[in-house]
Amino acid sequence: GFSWKLNDHPKLPKGKVIAMVVLDGWGEAKPDKYNCIHVADTPVMDSLKNGAPEKWRLVKAHGKAVGLPTDDDMGNSEVGHNALGAGRIYAQGAKLVDLALESGKIYDGEGFQYIKESFETGTLHLIGLLSDGGVHSRLDQLQLLLKGVSERGAKRIRVHALTDGRDVLDGSSVGFMETLENDLAKLREKGIDAQVASGGGRMYVTMDRYENDWDVVKRGWDAQVLGEAPHKFRNPVEAIKTLRAEPNANDQYLPPFVIVDENGKPVGPIVDGDAVVTVNFRADRMVMLAKALEYPDFDKFDRVRFPKIRYAGMLQYDGELKLPSHYLVSPPEIERTSGEYLTHNGVRTFACSETVKFGHVTFFWNGNRSGYFNSEMEEYVEIPSDSGITFNVKPKMKALEIAEKARDAILSGKFHQVRVNLPNGDMVGHTGDIEATIVACKAADEAVKMILDAIEQVGGIYVVTADHGNAEDMVKRNKKGEPLLDKAGKIQILTSHTLEPVPIAIGGPGLTKGVRFRQDLPGAGLANVAATVMNLHGFEAPSDYEPTLIEVVDN
Ligand code: 3PG
Ligand code: CO
Repeated sequence: GFSWKLNDHPKLPKGKVIAMVVLDGWGEAKPDKYNCIHVADTPVMDSLKNGAPEKWRLVKAHGKAVGLPTDDDMGNSEVGHNALGAGRIYAQGAKLVDLALESGKIYDGEGFQYIKESFETGTLHLIGLLSDGGVHSRLDQLQLLLKGVSERGAKRIRVHALTDGRDVLDGSSVGFMETLENDLAKLREKGIDAQVASGGGRMYVTMDRYENDWDVVKRGWDAQVLGEAPHKFRNPVEAIKTLRAEPNANDQYLPPFVIVDENGKPVGPIVDGDAVVTVNFRADRMVMLAKALEYPDFDKFDRVRFPKIRYAGMLQYDGELKLPSHYLVSPPEIERTSGEYLTHNGVRTFACSETVKFGHVTFFWNGNRSGYFNSEMEEYVEIPSDSGITFNVKPKMKALEIAEKARDAILSGKFHQVRVNLPNGDMVGHTGDIEATIVACKAADEAVKMILDAIEQVGGIYVVTADHGNAEDMVKRNKKGEPLLDKAGKIQILTSHTLEPVPIAIGGPGLTKGVRFRQDLPGAGLANVAATVMNLHGFEAPSDYEPTLIEVVDN
């Protein structure tokens, strides 16, 4: 039968302290002035790269290697940390939704049957990110869903659209909204009352995560549910164009707006008897809204009205909380993660990041599961993020504080694994501010230094890697790799992640002599890291895990 017990590694000892450092948004790309990691002063990461060649390598962090539909899909933190923690490659949300829509199975499931009961008398509301980024959602999936639901009885449909500019170019929201409007117009021709009802920028409206700032969700609630927003428009394309014309406006931070009819009345508040689907497949930035839509008892903000609706997520977003309880597509069944195995085998773990990435090294790492496996064996520490700012204003973020917590945990002697996420390269990279991203990369490097120094002191081992690229390329390029210019001759800033591989480095005084990266896994990816780390803890990985990156040569 099944057992949690891992076999001993034949050559590697147990009991070492391992620092597991994930640099968020830290890929490897050719050195030029748009590569902030290259431009920044990063002596520690440079020394790892230029040190022993058998202790540093690149691994894939995008596309099929992390369970995304195609190799044109950039990496992201959800799939990256899932792969790092789970040690296997799962077809991820994006792919699962594609399959369910293609086969039509999405309409046979419990979730759709549930919301469908509202179609006769109520409105169907679709809330989500309007983007083809493929990180949280995809416009083509929304388009297919609109078609599918209207063929299956939805007569009145309202879309609540969040503009992106973070996983895609800033300004692309206009084109996405035009595409959506076009589709809705076609539905209207068929006699379906389909309209956009509200909107706003994803970082300012609705899509907060890890309870960093409930005001973000409240602003969305007011527009989507109550039909109240500071800006009112008749037409959503005009709304976006007008709001973008304000000084310093961008897609990520557009203020909330509602669409009104000729009498100035909002066209789509959410009311008793309606159905709601949150169309994002990715969990982290939908969980807070899901709680507001689903929990009868809720005190994070005043909902004013709590409509009696039938609510389903595109996926179930939290497996532990079973949230939401209805969903259109079953999430990947990520089970037997490395974290769960290690707690069953006596490995004590400490995990830490600041709020905006805290769930990455806990929730995502553990297969989209919140909470501890065993609170006696694990300690998770969250450092509060600054809220209400864009991180180019404070590019050092909480890197130092995270490193101090990691250092203390390493020196305490209480833990075998000390796991952190350093958010800087990613969070600042997403702002598109190149100068600030350079500062961010330096801050992350300094944090790595503090952690490696502590590992040195206790005779431990370090594993330093990243979840996907971002800061190493800040410009949109043509197929030849040359920077693309806009009509005004300015470069187009790339706020999104990239397709680049990420580094992984191992070392430290506790690393057994003769440990080195294998040469026979040139195509390895993030999913190969879990078995590697299990080995360094002195265990063989389960046989269905992706193979370890390391071997031990006798010398
Ligand atoms: C976000 O949610 O901030 C971006 O869409 C993706 O960034 P992450 O995958 O690094 O969290
Ligand atoms: Co990111």
